[in-house]
Amino acid sequence: MLSLFGDNVEYDIANIALAEKGKLRIEWAENQMPVLGLIKKRFEKEKPLKGAVIGACLHVTSETANLVRTLKAGGAECVLCASNPLSTQDDVAASLVEHSKIEVYAVKGEGNEKYYDHIDRVLSSRPNITMDDGGDLVSTLHSKRRELIKDVIAGTEETTTGVIRFRSMEKQNALKIPIIAVNDADTKHLFDNRYGTGQSSIDGILRATNILLAGKNFVVCGYGWCGRGVALRAKGMGANVIVVEVNPLRALEAVMDGYRVMSIADASRIGDIFITATGNKNVIRGEHFAVMKDGAVVANTGHFNVELNLKDLEGLIKSKRKLRECVEEYKLKNDNRIYLLAEGRLINLAAAEGHPASVMDMSFANQALCAEYIKKEGKKLTAKVYPVPKEIDEKIARLKLQSMNIKIDRLTKEQEEYLRSWKIGT
Ligand code: ADE
Repeated sequence: MLSLFGDNVEYDIANIALAEKGKLRIEWAENQMPVLGLIKKRFEKEKPLKGAVIGACLHVTSETANLVRTLKAGGAECVLCASNPLSTQDDVAASLVEHSKIEVYAVKGEGNEKYYDHIDRVLSSRPNITMDDGGDLVSTLHSKRRELIKDVIAGTEETTTGVIRFRSMEKQNALKIPIIAVNDADTKHLFDNRYGTGQSSIDGILRATNILLAGKNFVVCGYGWCGRGVALRAKGMGANVIVVEVNPLRALEAVMDGYRVMSIADASRIGDIFITATGNKNVIRGEHFAVMKDGAVVANTGHFNVELNLKDLEGLIKSKRKLRECVEEYKLKNDNRIYLLAEGRLINLAAAEGHPASVMDMSFANQALCAEYIKKEGKKLTAKVYPVPKEIDEKIARLKLQSMNIKIDRLTKEQEEYLRSWKIGT
């Protein structure tokens, strides 16, 4: 690990020698991010972020690298740390330091202490815009670095888990800065959460295990946008999908989407593969691990590694060993084996490369345009959770379609009028 104080760039990354490899990876992602590319071009000319210091706590991937380079092109000073200890792509981190001169604090596999030390380094840059994925940056700002709150105009939040945390802070009057919920933009969650998580979580399970999905009982816990995506893709590969839900509407939706729906207690006995996507804790607990079939595979794709009660699992076993990269075998006292993937951390980023760039294109276009909005209008906001402005969401959808060469129709004058009128019936 290195830290450099020359060249005006401070950093803490795994290995700066990986920079060339990371550069190619960033270029590959850039090719799939045309909307962000258009924003970058405009930012280069207009410099709308000049004077902004952006503290970002995001998964350090090739897609994030393109976001951070866009923000820098817009005139911002960016400081980046990881939003998960296992999701950092070390070569990408190296290229950001070496080629883009961006301060990065992220090492794949860093422990909890270093993870929070890195967050503290980002906060020490005195950001006036925060960019979070999961809420750890802003939560630490509120709990440990309150003296810096006054510098922050507003922040953005990338994911469901973070938005839930900030809404709860707002309810308890604990939130002291405005937050824009990027996750809730239609051009974010309808695509990133559904198709991004759907594909990349399956990708993570396959890269970790290389098991066949066809014919397997595949249990998806949680039928939000992420769970819907995972279920859809698992079904597409021939798995028998079982959905576990606590929300009656979502459970009903899963039934009518063609899945079996049952309690986790019942699913535990018949599942071959389990994946949690709920955003809640202890979804799979000791009593569930205890009745699983020999050879069951268990993974999580939620933001935090709390969805599986691993303490309970530890209490049931007589031995464990690492069998493959990202596969740990837990041998239960009854001799059954359970295979835990990626330590229960988010499988798509820990065992694979996260969502594909073309879906992150829209998520990060939202981030970039929200940063611009905060710089321009942020002082008018109060300490609440705000939606992404509708115009930003719609503009991104139009640009994405344009980049795909897809033309759509517009309403005729007559149709617009019809929608406005209430007198015309049968
Ligand atoms: N979250 C999910 N996938 C991601 C990716 N590829 N880059 C950054 N954040 C992500």
